[in-house]
Amino acid sequence: MTKLSLNRLIHTGCTALAALALVACSKQDAAPAVSAAASAPPAASTRVYVVGTDAAYAPFESQNEKGEIVGFDIDVLTAVAKKAGIEVKFVNTPWEGIFNNLAQGDRDIIVSAVTITDERKQTMDFSNPYFDAQQLMAVKANSKIAKFDDLKKLKVGVQTGTTGDEVVSKLQGKTNPNIKRFESTPLALKELEAGGVDAVVADNGVVINYVTNNAGSKFKTVADKAFAPEQYGLVVKKGNADLQGKLNKGLADIKADGTYDQIYAKYFGAPAAAAPASAASK
Ligand code: ARG
Repeated sequence: MTKLSLNRLIHTGCTALAALALVACSKQDAAPAVSAAASAPPAASTRVYVVGTDAAYAPFESQNEKGEIVGFDIDVLTAVAKKAGIEVKFVNTPWEGIFNNLAQGDRDIIVSAVTITDERKQTMDFSNPYFDAQQLMAVKANSKIAKFDDLKKLKVGVQTGTTGDEVVSKLQGKTNPNIKRFESTPLALKELEAGGVDAVVADNGVVINYVTNNAGSKFKTVADKAFAPEQYGLVVKKGNADLQGKLNKGLADIKADGTYDQIYAKYFGAPAAAAPASAASK
């Protein structure tokens, strides 16, 4: 054996010994840390994160006959939570005040087809985007409304404080009495049926779902390229980077392993590349 290889052997042996000693040592020293780590997973799984959702927004979130909260958002967040190793509980929460509930700590997460906007980013934190959306108009089947600008002097129904409210406020002026604000999107759509408004502006997925399932041939949808693309994000309290990180990791995982695509197909049929707007509106 050469001196060098002997040296190496000794060195390797020492390293191994040192490593062993380190393990033994760290085992002792870290005893409290180890038990803390061991109790960490149960702590994480007993901690139930309260999720607020305005469950009047099918197909993203709604209540079924049994009163259970169901929908695309619910399936997505449930799958995300599973990957992230956290437990979640969904609580029906009115849209108005939903972000206050988050800020006050009554809710840990909001999943409610929430569009990521610069303004909202100042007071809350978002996950990475999980869904593409766009505003879409619902009008009576015989309506002459062909583009967003046609709504300038007409009565328009929106859900208060949504991005639909924002775009119509921009078109007509925030305080214009022609803007009829409702606490839910279905209420706005019912008003369209009743003839109280000439159009409703809301998220494409919800408008298409309503027109298809509730309004039969009474309504039609009108798309307009003037509507900016929107993206939904999961929402956490401003500064809750820990939870935001967990959700982003879970989202990445369900996108990578096909779970997201499965959920998407369950609700929208088409591959994720084709947004529902392009499927059902012109
Ligand atoms: N995407 C729109 C927004 O963020 C509407 C969301 C309304 N969601 C609901 N569950 N009502 O303003």
